[in-house]
Amino acid sequence: MLFAAAGYRVTVYDIEIRQLENAVSDIKMQLGDLERQGLLRGTLSADQQFQNIRTTTNFADAVKDVMYIQECVPERLDLKASVYAQADSLMSDRCILASSASALLPSKLAAGITHRNRFIVAHPTNPPFYAPLVELIPSPWADPDVVPTTNAIMEKLGQVPVVLKKEIEGFVLNRIQYSIMREAWGLIKDGVIDVDGVDKVMSAGLGRRYAFMGPFETAYLNADGMYVYAERYAAMIEGVMNTLKPTSTFGGPVLDQIQQELEARIPLDDLQKRRQWRDKRLAALSQLNKRLDGEDDA
Ligand SMILES: NC(=O)c1ccc[n+]([C@@H]2O[C@H](COP(=O)([O-])OP(=O)(O)OC[C@H]3O[C@@H](n4cnc5c(N)ncnc54)[C@H](O)[C@@H]3O)[C@@H](O)[C@H]2O)c1
Repeated sequence: MLFAAAGYRVTVYDIEIRQLENAVSDIKMQLGDLERQGLLRGTLSADQQFQNIRTTTNFADAVKDVMYIQECVPERLDLKASVYAQADSLMSDRCILASSASALLPSKLAAGITHRNRFIVAHPTNPPFYAPLVELIPSPWADPDVVPTTNAIMEKLGQVPVVLKKEIEGFVLNRIQYSIMREAWGLIKDGVIDVDGVDKVMSAGLGRRYAFMGPFETAYLNADGMYVYAERYAAMIEGVMNTLKPTSTFGGPVLDQIQQELEARIPLDDLQKRRQWRDKRLAALSQLNKRLDGEDDA
């Protein structure tokens, strides 16, 4: 959808025809909703964007003569490697092969292919339309043009790319996300707070600022710059940091407690309704950001 909005002609490929049919009807519905809310990206109408998208179950038809491939098959090394092996013999030498992988390292993903020099991980955030961050992690063999070209494509889409200078497990977004989860897990395990409390700390506290700025700018503004912040708070921060606990396992009684508390609040049958609730708020936040960005520019 995002590529089509930027004017690219897009071919969506899947082994399941049903998935393609669902994707097309979902995209049509979403584009219509976005147009009604004034949230469409780019200058094309919803219908023009939709016309840029076609589907196929023929792999060669999808990847031959294209400038960019965004692979989104499930997060399994063997499966992704088999897709790249297919692409390897069909893609042009200038094409960029990008993966949506969330944690698999580019050095492992691209190790077996001839076009390893054209490979990059372009890890989107879900839902990409409302959370525009894309982490870019090039393969260790990437040609010099791979990062700047992918970066330029993402910016043309209206996404916000960040480039990692080297690969690391979980990249950056998931490392930070899992650090938060690890600490929240420990606090629940130690009986300090419940799930509802953790969610409030994030949604009514940290998350309010994080929708607009990161932890370092938050600190910078909290005092008169970083040096003053460190002077005031370093001893307290180091004291707390030194009490943070090492990794726990993602299972057992804490998992039971989190599931039970969440299920009492959001029954599993209501997940779809709650996702719609979330997306409505994300859309409203996008509208607000768009308006305020416009005021910043004025
Ligand atoms: N869902 C997210 O929030 C999210 C966010 C960022 C990155 N990612 C990454 O994107 C990738 C896909 O995740 P997802 O959640 O969209 O998965 P998914 O299971 O929802 O969709 C995967 C699709 O791949 C298709 N598929 C399976 N095998 C295939 C093959 N051999 N060739 C072509 N198509 C095939 C399936 O039919 C399905 O439509 C993963 O690497 C994941 O880590 C997901």
